[in-house]
Amino acid sequence: MSDDTVKIFDTTLRDGEQSPGCSMTTAEKMKVAKELVKLGVDIIEAGFPIASPGDFEAVRKIANEFGSQTTICGLARCRKDDIDRAWEALKDAEKSRIHVFLATSSIHREHKLKMNKEQIVETAVEMVKRARDYCPDIEFSPEDAARTEKDFLCEVVEKAIDAGATTVNIPDTVGYATPAHFHDVITTLKKNVPNIDRAVISTHCHNDLGLAVANSLAAVEAGARQIECTINGLGERAGNCALEEVVMALKTRADYYGVHTNINTKRLYPISHLVSTVTGMTVQRNKAIVGKNAFAHEAGIHQHGILQERTTYEIMHPDDVGYVGSNLVLGKHSGRHAFRDRIQSLGHTLDDETFERIFKEFIVLADKKKEIYDSDIVALIENQVTDA
Ligand code: KIV
Ligand code: ZN
Repeated sequence: MSDDTVKIFDTTLRDGEQSPGCSMTTAEKMKVAKELVKLGVDIIEAGFPIASPGDFEAVRKIANEFGSQTTICGLARCRKDDIDRAWEALKDAEKSRIHVFLATSSIHREHKLKMNKEQIVETAVEMVKRARDYCPDIEFSPEDAARTEKDFLCEVVEKAIDAGATTVNIPDTVGYATPAHFHDVITTLKKNVPNIDRAVISTHCHNDLGLAVANSLAAVEAGARQIECTINGLGERAGNCALEEVVMALKTRADYYGVHTNINTKRLYPISHLVSTVTGMTVQRNKAIVGKNAFAHEAGIHQHGILQERTTYEIMHPDDVGYVGSNLVLGKHSGRHAFRDRIQSLGHTLDDETFERIFKEFIVLADKKKEIYDSDIVALIENQVTDA
């Protein structure tokens, strides 16, 4: 893969599923995995095999069914049993990856793991080697990397690469980083880890401060070439970096970033809808890229602009994300241009006088209703015809 390709690592089925109330059955996971393959993600993190028999089964089935089309990944703590179980689930896939993680920040070392720095390094090295004995594609994550002392982070990453890690993932586990800070973390690794070019640098940003996408983009700018993300930004607490947002940011601003992904962006809207249906987690209307209002224009000035030349108020084409439906929403802010356009698309031609009368009635109605449907417009037209 060339240096201008950013790999998309989807973790909807693992970190996304950790979102409270979003657990999925194996059958539902299979459906989502099938769509992720069509979407063109490079890696699917299908689950955490040691977590439960259901998780193990889902990873195994996804690996067997889709492991020849894309890389299937299973998560493991730095524990022998976790790694063995992950491999057991993945072993029949043509393309598989074991993802091992161990926290490195002082807060986690002292309060959660009760391990000192030497023990962390020793454990990470031993477990990466164990995983590498099974599989050539190994990802290592120093959990809570964004709050880890930089010199220690560099040391752990260097040793993990020496032990066989082929991807080093830098998690902002608690969404603490800001774009400048995260850029600096990646730059520091690139400068100070002598063997860093032997591994792909990856990002894994949580959204506690609403910065997961911005931080992932900052990391790409600093040299990261894999982004971990989820459909609709699903995930623990405020979620993970939203796949659809980060992918469209890289595509729309390719002039700035100079990189591309393998994502078929036309499948973004359909998969967002599927994940929302399967998890029951509704997508907010004004959510970027896949929200119902993401391409909707109500203001008359905007609608007029769009009807003249789309790019006046649109930086992306709705077709490019697979959005279907009208993007000119009729409401009290709409003008005559959009109203006439909608009447024509509904198959009606009106003389100027009738049009003006109906337009006035439409504005009065729009003041009373949040949304005007095509059926409301047809009713206004039919009333005119009946009254005449
Ligand atoms: O947020 C996190 O640190 C994780 C790791 C397991 C990569 O999800
Ligand atoms: Zn995470």
